[in-house]
Amino acid sequence: MFSFYWRKFIIPFWLLAFTAIVCFIIASLAGLAAPLVVKLLIDNALNQGNINFLHLITVGIAILYLFRGVFSYLYGYCMAKAGNKMLAKLRQDMFSKLQSLDYAYFMRTSSGELISLFTNDLLFIQQAVTVGLPDVIVESINLLAIMSIMIYFDWRLAMVTFATMPFIIVAISFFNSKIGTLGVLVDHALAKVTAIIQQSLVSVLIVQSYVREDYEYKKFSDKIQEAANDLLKAQRFSAILVSLVEFLAAVGLTIIIWYGGREVINGHLSIGGMFAFLVYIINVPMPVRKISQGLTHLKLGAVAWKRINNLLNEQTPTVTEGDMLMPQAEGVVEFKDVSFAYRQGKLVLNDINILARPNEIIAIVGPSGAGKSSFANLLLRFYDPDNGGIYLDGVDIRKLKLAELRRHIGFIQQEPILFNTTVLENIRYGRPDATQSQIEQAARMADAYEFIMSLPQGFDTVVGELGGKLSGGQRQRIAVARAIITEPAILLLDEPTAALDAQTEKQVMAAIRQAGTGRTTFIITHRMSTIMASDRVVYLTEGRVAETGTHQELIDKDGLYAQAVRFSEIEMSIDVKHL
Ligand SMILES: Nc1ncnc2c1ncn2[C@@H]1O[C@H](COP(=O)(O)OP(=O)(O)OP(=O)(O)O)[C@@H](O)[C@H]1O
Ligand SMILES: [Mg+2]
Repeated sequence: MFSFYWRKFIIPFWLLAFTAIVCFIIASLAGLAAPLVVKLLIDNALNQGNINFLHLITVGIAILYLFRGVFSYLYGYCMAKAGNKMLAKLRQDMFSKLQSLDYAYFMRTSSGELISLFTNDLLFIQQAVTVGLPDVIVESINLLAIMSIMIYFDWRLAMVTFATMPFIIVAISFFNSKIGTLGVLVDHALAKVTAIIQQSLVSVLIVQSYVREDYEYKKFSDKIQEAANDLLKAQRFSAILVSLVEFLAAVGLTIIIWYGGREVINGHLSIGGMFAFLVYIINVPMPVRKISQGLTHLKLGAVAWKRINNLLNEQTPTVTEGDMLMPQAEGVVEFKDVSFAYRQGKLVLNDINILARPNEIIAIVGPSGAGKSSFANLLLRFYDPDNGGIYLDGVDIRKLKLAELRRHIGFIQQEPILFNTTVLENIRYGRPDATQSQIEQAARMADAYEFIMSLPQGFDTVVGELGGKLSGGQRQRIAVARAIITEPAILLLDEPTAALDAQTEKQVMAAIRQAGTGRTTFIITHRMSTIMASDRVVYLTEGRVAETGTHQELIDKDGLYAQAVRFSEIEMSIDVKHL
């Protein structure tokens, strides 16, 4: 459990941590000296009526506490600084790891879990390093120092007083493990709460349209209640623990009064010495409590770290990076004998051969599950084929740097993801250095210029979350502009018109045709008018290229494609397919 804190916190920030601990030791020495001053006060000043010594002690105590204040501050500052630095670094590592993970990872991890990593788990680690760790280290030193001083004063009295120690330790370890387990439960419940919030934000439209607000609310409040109950239990145990420790310390106090009193009467201990003892024993519960709470923080932090570490150790992509650069691409794409399976044994693509040249628009058509999106995943290298190869201008794409390959592909999905910023920034996304006129040019090519100019603030209009303030067709044309601003050699579109009505589909297709000039375009589609606007159809079934040719050729051939058209598996664009 401690190795994490050692490797990630103490070692990287050793200078800050070291300074912090030195400051602390000075501060606590000042604190520890206070009871000694009490002894001097009683034995040397009060008992002997020495007024000068009294003055000396008064000044001494003021200076002592000033010292303590200054060094406590420095200690707190250094600890917080080291803690915050570590957290910032951890956040950055997590974020950049997340960006590097592939599609496959996000397919199996819910975004709620991820958000919980960035919120709850980081919070636990923050508490562990800024509160838990310093408290445990520092208060243990403190406690040891108190005990040593007591032994030094009068070892017999010290031993008698420490008789309560074993009970304190047993109580702490018993309650601590309970508190720790409950903490983990709370953590889980909170993670679920986050997931629910995240889910309902995404699906608020669905929730409201199905009138399931009450159900969602109940689901949410159940989890909140669960977390609150566990938290209450943990806090109750922690309160019991505190009272118990205080009680046991009071037993120690009684022992000192009884046994210490006898020692004083027998002349083995001065009155001042006995008072100093009393002050020390009163000081014991505080460090013990802090150590116990600190250990809980450390435990929770370690659990959180395990989860975060799982993310950081996640095996990055299934594909390995090539190192070849290709500044310019013509856009000749060839699939040669490509076979691919997500899972062993179940071929999703089977012996695919396709050759596509610039200025061609190729419609990839086929029933649901035929492997169309998988075709796109392979071209983008989210996965590599198990057999055969994919070539761009005659170069195996596995040899290219990933970023280099993807720069040549303008990818557009069925539901384009727009960022909640201006139209201009959305289009510029693919190419941060694009000038205003290049952006306008791209917008014109995507047939988006006119509608953009009619928006309230033109290119500076903010599009709303996920582009929600725009219509589906408008979003899609902005996505086209964003895709072509990088001047990709290839356009790859996965059902770009599936969510659009007939009229809008026509507009978007016109935009795509225009944008496709000089490029190689693949459109995955099941819409007839999209197929009609393309040059060639590749008809896939069960991962194989069943037929290929122009729409008319395939109709004349009267094979599977013609059959699909007859059975309306390929839709005439008459309806709005998706809400
Ligand atoms: N990430 C994945 N992991 C495992 N199997 C997958 C994954 N993605 C798709 N599949 C499977 O691969 C097959 C082909 O899926 P693909 O998404 O390529 O179909 P599609 O032709 O795009 O279908 P649709 O028209 O419904 O979008 C399906 O059987 C699907 O269940
Ligand atoms: Mg698909």
